[in-house]
Amino acid sequence: MPKNIAEKSVEFAVPLKGIPETAVIQSNLPVYNAEQRDEKIANIKRLLKRENAVLVAHYYTNEDLQIIAEETGGVVSDSLEMARFGNNHPATTLIVAGVRFMGETAKILSPEKRVLMPTLEATCSLDLGCPAKEFSEFCDQYPNHEVVVYANTSAEVKARADWVVTSSIALKVVAHLMDQGKKILWAPDKHLGHYIQKVTGAEMVLWQGACIVHEEFKARGLGELIEKHPDAGILVHPESPAAVIDIADVVGSTTTLIKAAKELPHKEFIVATDNRIFYKMKQEAPGKIFIEAPTAGEGATCKSCAHCPWMAMNGLHNLEAVLESGLKSGENEIFVDEEIRQKAFRSTSRMLEFVAH
Ligand code: 13P
Ligand code: SF4
Repeated sequence: MPKNIAEKSVEFAVPLKGIPETAVIQSNLPVYNAEQRDEKIANIKRLLKRENAVLVAHYYTNEDLQIIAEETGGVVSDSLEMARFGNNHPATTLIVAGVRFMGETAKILSPEKRVLMPTLEATCSLDLGCPAKEFSEFCDQYPNHEVVVYANTSAEVKARADWVVTSSIALKVVAHLMDQGKKILWAPDKHLGHYIQKVTGAEMVLWQGACIVHEEFKARGLGELIEKHPDAGILVHPESPAAVIDIADVVGSTTTLIKAAKELPHKEFIVATDNRIFYKMKQEAPGKIFIEAPTAGEGATCKSCAHCPWMAMNGLHNLEAVLESGLKSGENEIFVDEEIRQKAFRSTSRMLEFVAH
């Protein structure tokens, strides 16, 4: 345990409005029969090749998109690897299937590439809950703190930061800064910030944002589920509440959780993260059983129900559309103001350099 835990958790969050419900988003998506689905997939593969484009998809997108990315030389990964892969890949066009900050991160790192997304409506509650102006004012209150932001933020917020990190390397970066005697201003995810603080013992002030998906996981319901599955391994993403993290066998980024599913000896796992990750977990650990951590605890009804509403907006229909018409019209293309991009590049590219060493 760290010796000198010194955390100042300051209240600074912007209330969220108009959060979509995953079931509503899904009910508005087109439904295809097997033949139509196969046709769409074949057409998307053909268009990717024709346009010299590569598909960079997150583990939380639907299975069809993950399959296309894998079968066409793209990538399905966590947000850190999405950034790294997109930056290193020679394709002139990146199609980023995920949420907006992932597309913006790709553009920040690779301004010479065209970056398009199946939909620009797909955002993230952490990004929404941390507007640049309020964030900048928050930073002004702590001039002696190193500003470390989660990648789930806008380009403007990244531009104000000293460091951008993802859940894969947040602990290592904060530990590194702590070794240099730095105090940390962390934003926007309070749960991840609290977890980092607890593990490293760093002196931190925390912005009070949250992921609407992970925040729905309930420790009490999880405890009850564990009673029914006493031998299951518990895998938890650190955007979950502290009481859920405390029960975990493994806490980490999506990639860490997939690796644990593969490497741990357990035959079954209870997983507290977006359930679209099960596609990759089943692929990497065939024969093992994966159970969703409960989201509808006592007195609560789930809204995302373990699937991000914004990730759910990505589908075959809009992936095909962006390749068919977006490339010509510029619709759904990501643009970042050049002055902001240059500032955001400093804090974001640092993350990739840190991983490389
Ligand atoms: P990872 O970086 O672990 O993939 O997480 C991204 C994210 O948005 C989790 O909700
Ligand atoms: Fe944002 Fe949560 Fe969705 Fe990840 S799962 S993109 S953190 S809202």
